[in-house]
Amino acid sequence: MTRTAAARADIAPFYVMEVMRAAELAEASGAEVLHLEVGQPCTPAPAGVIAAAHRGLDHDVLGYTTAAGIEPLRRRIARHYADWYGVDVDPDAVMLTVGASGAFVAAFMAAFDPGDRVVVPSPGYPCYRNALVALGIDVVDVTTTIETRFQPTVEMLDALGPVDGLVLGSPSNPTGTMLDARRMADIVEWCRRHDVWFVSDEIYHGITYGDAAPTARQFDVDAIVVNSLSKYFSMTGWRLGWLVMPDSLRDAVTRIGQNLTIAAPTLSQLGAIAAFDCHEECQANVVRYARNRQLLLDGLPRAGLDRLAPADGAFYIWAQTDHLLPDSQELCGRWLDEIGVAATPGIDFDPQNGHRFVRFSFAGAQADVAQAVVRLRDWTP
Ligand SMILES: Cc1ncc(COP(=O)(O)O)c(C=O)c1O
Repeated sequence: MTRTAAARADIAPFYVMEVMRAAELAEASGAEVLHLEVGQPCTPAPAGVIAAAHRGLDHDVLGYTTAAGIEPLRRRIARHYADWYGVDVDPDAVMLTVGASGAFVAAFMAAFDPGDRVVVPSPGYPCYRNALVALGIDVVDVTTTIETRFQPTVEMLDALGPVDGLVLGSPSNPTGTMLDARRMADIVEWCRRHDVWFVSDEIYHGITYGDAAPTARQFDVDAIVVNSLSKYFSMTGWRLGWLVMPDSLRDAVTRIGQNLTIAAPTLSQLGAIAAFDCHEECQANVVRYARNRQLLLDGLPRAGLDRLAPADGAFYIWAQTDHLLPDSQELCGRWLDEIGVAATPGIDFDPQNGHRFVRFSFAGAQADVAQAVVRLRDWTP
């Protein structure tokens, strides 16, 4: 057989997975590793979700659901928009997906044609770019800096020429920075005026340390909103996310969903109905993240890392590191080998400038974060 993989599969790997693998190998050879590389909660799903899933296992056939997902969950998610944002969402506009990851693929396929130009910020979550490229969609980079809180402005968007879409995460992975309501409204309005699909990744909503994050849906019923049970609800492995679709995309997204995945996992959907009544447990996790965040904000400057993005939300701190070593991949390798601290080099999130940055995740145990800042303080390049 001489056939090889299709050209569309020639996309960048998700390097963070390689960092996790290196940390695992170090642990297997006896090192005690402090995990500040892992971008997921270290807690299980809320107890109410687990109980609901047990009931599902015992009593439900667990067949396919419709492509959009079970109605009680879509209704519960619609109510969540009223509860959190004061926004009216029709349950029929909600579609359950295989994580936010599945929501992106469905939304991108429904909204964009090959050759369309879609704006993606750098630094940003790498799978936006890689999924778009795999679908033959042209990625238009917009480089952001700390001066605009690592989020684009309408002036930056104006400079890009005609585009068909914009994908933004707020709070962002890897920077943790957020668009406030005024800036979100400006961007949504810019998209509407220029007939550009706005895909708003709201996966870190609920995990914020000051003001709550606004949803794009507050400002425009035509925004494509992506969210997930993975982060605030601590359910990464349940692989459940959702889309709030504009009316004009509902049929297209549904057809894509029917054909690509049939439906999101049924057991996860049954469990997830309970998630939206488990805020006490979810909030307790946010309190732990807030403590960890403070440990890093206090401790990193003592380790010479004082060029930090404002961590408005999510569980990440984006730190400039090129004054320690020019290449953050080498820096992270040395931290792992010499002091057992695993962190993620920025190259995943920003192909151009990422080598000058490191992402610290503070989703893990408080003791690990506290110990990591001590080890980093005592380390010399
Ligand atoms: C910004 C962002 N969007 C989407 C995802 C994918 O999440 P899911 O587990 O819902 O597929 C992640 C995962 O880390 C993320 O950080």
